[in-house]
Amino acid sequence: MGGTILKMQQITKRFPGVLALDQVNISLDRGEVLALVGENGAGKSTLLKILSGAYVKDEGVIEFDGRVIDGYSPNEAIDMGISIIYQELDNYGTLTVTENILVNALPRKGGKFSPIDWKAANAKADELIRRITDEIDVTARINTLTAAQQQLVEIAKAMSRNMKVLVMDEPTSALNRVETEQLLKIVKNLAAEGIGIIYISHRMDEIFQISDRIQVMRDGKSVSSFLTSEADEERIVREMVGRTLDSMYPHTKQTPGECILKVEHLTCGKAEDVSFRLHRGEILSLFGLMGAGRTSMVRGLFGDRYIRSGSIEILGKTTRNRSPKEAIQNHIAYVPNERKLEGLMLTDTVRFNISISVVDILKKFLKVDKKAEEQITEHWIEKLGIRTPSGETKVVSLSGGNQQKVVIARWLETKPEILILNDPTRGIDVGAKAEIYRLMEELCRQGMGIIMISSELQETLSMADRILVMSEGRVTGEVPREEATQENLMKLAVGGKG
Ligand SMILES: Nc1ncnc2c1ncn2[C@@H]1O[C@H](COP(=O)(O)OP(=O)(O)OP(=O)(O)O)[C@@H](O)[C@H]1O
Ligand SMILES: [Mg+2]
Repeated sequence: MGGTILKMQQITKRFPGVLALDQVNISLDRGEVLALVGENGAGKSTLLKILSGAYVKDEGVIEFDGRVIDGYSPNEAIDMGISIIYQELDNYGTLTVTENILVNALPRKGGKFSPIDWKAANAKADELIRRITDEIDVTARINTLTAAQQQLVEIAKAMSRNMKVLVMDEPTSALNRVETEQLLKIVKNLAAEGIGIIYISHRMDEIFQISDRIQVMRDGKSVSSFLTSEADEERIVREMVGRTLDSMYPHTKQTPGECILKVEHLTCGKAEDVSFRLHRGEILSLFGLMGAGRTSMVRGLFGDRYIRSGSIEILGKTTRNRSPKEAIQNHIAYVPNERKLEGLMLTDTVRFNISISVVDILKKFLKVDKKAEEQITEHWIEKLGIRTPSGETKVVSLSGGNQQKVVIARWLETKPEILILNDPTRGIDVGAKAEIYRLMEELCRQGMGIIMISSELQETLSMADRILVMSEGRVTGEVPREEATQENLMKLAVGGKG
């Protein structure tokens, strides 16, 4: 063990109008966990897509396992021992878990053209998946799994290859705490076996927990690298954003205003008999493990899921919100968690994606007022720091975090009274995170009520006025901020008493 397994030197990559990578250098030892950090759009994913053979570099040298490699395809990269788990889930939706994991290596009963041995295949896939979780049936179709489960399948798939380097691009962004812990353990074990790991994450706690070394990227350059044991959070943030950030969590507890939302005995999807209130100026956090019913509940509120029973009262008026359109008219906006699937039209422009929510309002004599659209777009690009060459850029070419900001901008533009944010800062860099928290605070001060689903404890404890904990579809507790601790929230989340 030990010794360098990978060296990328002077890597440069240009896209039309963007210098994505500017002479980047990184190196990785066998058995080392290298955390790659940087703001949204810094070039992390691009660098690793070059490593994986998905993108072609313009300049630079890649040395892997003692030799220079160049001009290889993603499949050849895997054969050489370079496995990548992408930020965007990349699987075959209608195939089963087994087929996904063993995609090019399904065992056969005899020679190359003999029938596939499904029993052996399922057993093999099952063995791999069980190293991560007990909750996935390998004969299930991928598209019946949750995003979190799909991510776990991706990880199992990478583990099935004979890998020397494993790259993980924000692997835990769709995982809950328990799953994240499991994953970090798995990563540590792989490193102990001598596999070099490059780990991209925006979550500081994970970075400190797992990495040996940290490499910071900024504006397409590798700015610094240091041992994790010699780093502290402030230093990393400073190197990432190139300045010191003032307070991360600005929200101070508010004296709640009038009640703007009253939910009673709501039963909808996985959520059962949920009751709560939301006041002006308040941030209510819904906390729970994956599958606790939080998303079902808020989708019901947003008219996106059939409500079996219960009542909703918004600004004193009883409503049913039978469709998202009706919910929007009732001043609710919902920023979904699976923004890729539910929110974005990737091949359309930033302008189109932001202004689509208000397109009816912007219509002048049946034609959309393009000037107004452009103004709105400029406003949000500036306000959220969306990193894009212009409003006319197609969303598909933005970095992951910047795509998320586009969806958030769209919903904020509807100027809701009740804003539902499902995991709003997932995949968003620290600078932008602070920006979004500041925005939430500003909206609260203007009298909005915010419901936030969050998988991050720190965020929940620091931003929420009140925390509604759910477990298996039911509310197991309601905790005011001053009484909330990591322990009592977790206890309630697993269904216990607080
Ligand atoms: N296919 C593409 N076409 C055009 N521009 C691209 C493409 N892929 C990436 N870019 C641009 O390259 C830059 C770096 O993007 P990249 O996705 O590598 O950032 P990142 O560090 O992974 O960010 P995030 O944390 O948001 O995922 C961005 O300005 C992005 O818009
Ligand atoms: Mg990325």
